[in-house]
This record gives sequence, structure tokens and C-alpha cells, in this order.
Amino acid sequence: MPGFEVIGAEERAQVNEVFDRGGVLFRHGFDALRNDCYKVREFEQAFASKMGVEHALAVTSGTAALRVALSTLDLQPNDEVITQSFTFVATAEAIIEARAVPVCCEIDETFNMDPADLVARITPRTRAVIVVHMLGTPARLVEIKKICDDRGIVLIEDAAWGCGGSLNGKPLGTGARWAPSVSTLPRR
Ligand SMILES: Cc1ncc(COP(=O)(O)O)c(C=O)c1O
Repeated sequence: MPGFEVIGAEERAQVNEVFDRGGVLFRHGFDALRNDCYKVREFEQAFASKMGVEHALAVTSGTAALRVALSTLDLQPNDEVITQSFTFVATAEAIIEARAVPVCCEIDETFNMDPADLVARITPRTRAVIVVHMLGTPARLVEIKKICDDRGIVLIEDAAWGCGGSLNGKPLGTGARWAPSVSTLPRR
């Protein structure tokens, strides 16, 4: 999709407004020059409200979002992060960029992570699981979250395809959360 299909007059007006109000293209700083124009901050707040969560952080891409999430875990070489076999290459790339080993889990009839196969792939080196909602179809998040929570493994949702969808009334991308707190996770 080249982009022009979804970028119309409204989006152009928003971009032009940034230039009309000082032309500051940075997310942070330049407070004196930007005439109170904080488009990214406004977007984050509107997005968080839409998703029913306290915080949202805008980044440049889906790959960057995965990288940022993984960077909070202080991953070390030989740590393993499990993801599913049917996903976009960026999911595995983000794990490799974070210096961890990607481990592929089988999918089931949801086209997403098979909880039974996930259990079989967990080792003492498993630090996190990235579940993906491919093609907008929710993964079996409730079961997968329980598997992770019971073992103190961090669960990250890759909602690149799932944004706007929901599972049991909860927006996709908001069901994993960090429990227990990432900073207190024991190294397994
Ligand atoms: C499942 C999935 N995760 C991550 C990404 C990466 O997103 P981006 O291309 O914005 O970096 C994609 C992109 O298609 C994707 O399909």
C-alpha cells in the first residue's frame, strides 16, 4: 500500500498546521518555538484514551515498538524469546537485535500461537514471549497470559495487525501488560 489511499486532506491539514505553528518537527523540546503545538503528545493521549490504558508511547514503526519493549528487559546473549512461526519477519528481527535468541512456536487454528506448543518450548532461558494477532485475528491471549504469568515470563503483544480489534471486549494490544513488574523479574 503506497500510502496515498489513507493520507487525505485531514492528514495533510494536520501536517501543515505543524509548519504554520513554528515548524518544529521534534517530539520533545523547543518549547519556546512551537506555539504549544504537540501533535505527537496529543496523539499519544488520544490513542491511550481510545485503548483504555493510562499511557501510550508513539514510536516510528512496529519494529521500533518491539525493540523498545524488549529493551526494557535487559536481555543477555542466550536469553530466549518465544514468538510464533506465522508472523512478519520484524518480530524475529527485533528479538535478534535485542541480542536474544528467537524461538518459534507452532500456530493453531487461530493462525496464532498454540498455547500447548508454547508450554513445550519454554526453557529456563525463556525471558519473554511475543504473541502476534496476525491478520487481525486475536491470539488465545487469556491462556497464553496465564502460562506466562504462572512462570514469571514477560508477555508482549505484537498488535501490528491487531490494532483496532478486541478480545472479550478488551482492545488488542492491552491484554498482556507487565505482570509482575519487569524490574523485579527474576533471571531464570
Ligand atoms: C506482525 C508484524 N509485526 C511487526 C511489523 C513491523 O512493523 P513496521 O513495518 O512498521 O516496522 C509488521 C509489519 O508488517 C508486522 O506485520
